[in-house]
Amino acid sequence: MDKVLFLADEEATIKCAAHLSQCVKSNAIIFLQGTLGAGKTTFSRGFLRGLGYNGPVKSPSYTLVEPYEFPDFTVYHFDFYRLNSPKELEFIGIQDYLNPHAISLIEWPEKGEGFLPKPDLCCYLASHEGGRQLRIETHSEKGNTILQRFQDEKSI
Ligand SMILES: Nc1ncnc2c1ncn2[C@@H]1O[C@H](COP(=O)(O)OP(=O)(O)OP(=O)(O)O)[C@@H](O)[C@H]1O
Ligand SMILES: [Mg+2]
Repeated sequence: MDKVLFLADEEATIKCAAHLSQCVKSNAIIFLQGTLGAGKTTFSRGFLRGLGYNGPVKSPSYTLVEPYEFPDFTVYHFDFYRLNSPKELEFIGIQDYLNPHAISLIEWPEKGEGFLPKPDLCCYLASHEGGRQLRIETHSEKGNTILQRFQDEKSI
């Protein structure tokens, strides 16, 4: 399944991601793709806002990962832009992060190709008419369920 949306401004990106976060309801792996400045970190910030986190959210491009703890699960925000080789993911113990109590948001997943599992959702962001086009693509049954909820409960 896939779904294409137009996000007119940063606020729309935040709202959309916040809405998506409400539809996940379990562990999940979400790839965030698009060129530099496409809005992947903005999307991650919105996702965390949707879960009730109101602190700062910056691209963890030097540390590779930033954890956000919630009572029942952890959101790991990854940014692999500065990864020199996908093999480095073995050294950071990537498999330990992708556990049943984790939601992973992964910027630049293409830099970790071969060392990342298949995502449940891929979100592609691209500049479009002054705003952004977002395509949400599902890659698993869980992904389908999340996108179905997203469409059914759409409130933006
Ligand atoms: N829907 C939108 N319309 C217009 N501008 C937007 C939209 N969503 C986000 N932006 C803007 O895009 C800019 C870059 O966003 P962001 O840092 O999230 O990109 P990124 O994809 O994470 O980049 P990087 O690859 O460098 O990590 C920000 O200034 C943000 O305000
Ligand atoms: Mg970013």
